[in-house]
Amino acid sequence: MAEWWRDAVFYQVYVRSFADSNGDGVGDLPGITSKLDYLVDLGVDAIWLTPFYPSPGADHGYDVADYVDVDPLFGTLADFDELIAAAHARDIHVIVDIVPNHTSSAHPWFTEKRSLYVTAPAENGLPNNWPSNWGGPAWTLDEERGEYYLHLFAPEQPDLDWHNGDVRDEFDKILRFWLDRGVDGFRIDVAHGLVKDGALRDEPEPFPAVRFSSDWRTAIDQPEVHDVYRDWRRLTNAYDGDRVLVGEVVFSEQARVAPYLRPDELHLAFNFSLVFQDWDADAIRSSIDESRAALPIVTWVLENHDVTRIVTRFGEREARAAALLLLALPGPVFVYQGQELGLEEVDLPDEARQDPIFRRTNGERKGRDGCRVPIPWTHGLQANAWLPQPAGWSERSVEAQTGRPESFLELYRRAIELRPHGAFAWRESPPGTLAFDRDDLTCVVHFTDERTPVGDVVLASDDEQTAVWARR
Ligand code: GLC
Repeated sequence: MAEWWRDAVFYQVYVRSFADSNGDGVGDLPGITSKLDYLVDLGVDAIWLTPFYPSPGADHGYDVADYVDVDPLFGTLADFDELIAAAHARDIHVIVDIVPNHTSSAHPWFTEKRSLYVTAPAENGLPNNWPSNWGGPAWTLDEERGEYYLHLFAPEQPDLDWHNGDVRDEFDKILRFWLDRGVDGFRIDVAHGLVKDGALRDEPEPFPAVRFSSDWRTAIDQPEVHDVYRDWRRLTNAYDGDRVLVGEVVFSEQARVAPYLRPDELHLAFNFSLVFQDWDADAIRSSIDESRAALPIVTWVLENHDVTRIVTRFGEREARAAALLLLALPGPVFVYQGQELGLEEVDLPDEARQDPIFRRTNGERKGRDGCRVPIPWTHGLQANAWLPQPAGWSERSVEAQTGRPESFLELYRRAIELRPHGAFAWRESPPGTLAFDRDDLTCVVHFTDERTPVGDVVLASDDEQTAVWARR
């Protein structure tokens, strides 16, 4: 039987903002367990849990202070075990986020074993020209120790030194800990970044004209990183049940992602190419073609906890059409919580914003809080949610949308239920449209107001048939 993840719908749970079981305004693990039946009804195959480990929260959990425990804010290890058991009982796989590029500066290693981190002597000033992804230099001076330490993200997130075998040993133990507890795999944070240039040479283009700082060629994406994933692949292969490694490997060219997906490395990597396209037929078609040509297995993503929601990027009607496009494409699909409700990016007041990006860039970049507002479950919104829910979200709530055929939620449910699985082939179609077959189902997306004839409509994104699935 083919591995379960090859064609799976993964649902990303941003733990802080999914479901709050104890009324403290922050989502938690028992909250997730209580909503598993919702996810069963939605039809997803797997959930990905963002970090729930003990953390000071400088980057809301992507600053881990202990890799083998649960932050009391989110529950206990017993809650975790319960969640895994309850998910597995419903045939839902669970993958967890692992953050190997950096720890929290509150991790005991940072005090007790600084040799696990990338550091450089202070004498000659900044060690090189590497900038932090979030503004300012990637180096902070530790005056007491007389040395700089590296942080590609916030200063509270010091980068580990993956040239050091002890780091590898520690992570072997961490992965085993969670595999032994029954997780079905890992989502690997900043997977391309772990190994830094050993000589810490200047980056020729520290602020690349291309889209991402991860397009750097000197600082990161070093050949040795592939040995890490070969080790991890061997490790996961030794477990039963098709455990999966999903890398957050971010380059603007998908061809650079391909080496991470060699048969003895990661099983999957996010393909973010659609995340950065406008709602434009030609742009989307080229992005699909480029990804399919470059990668041995292609995943599809429109939203996650780091980017603006599609209703805001594309518009409401377009976001509904995008759902039918996404769920008709061949290969694993990632849906971010709230995407199925058509939630928009929330324009939060500055005083409510918490993302370190906002603070570190003095508000120049708004950051990612707008896509992280807690999910509205009922008409009555949650007054103490850690980020305020807009009043209009009563109508967007799960309660409001359930059973209403024209709702976003019911569109996602139907689409996941009817999702095609056959071979992919483009069809000829007029400019401003995309059309492709998956065996006997055709997906047609109209990017303009022109309409082309389609066969027997099985599912339409709206009455205007902006996107349809049809049988020939
Ligand atoms: C990844 C995560 C992002 C986090 C960053 C640093 O890009 O998706 O949320 O802030 O890594 O860990």
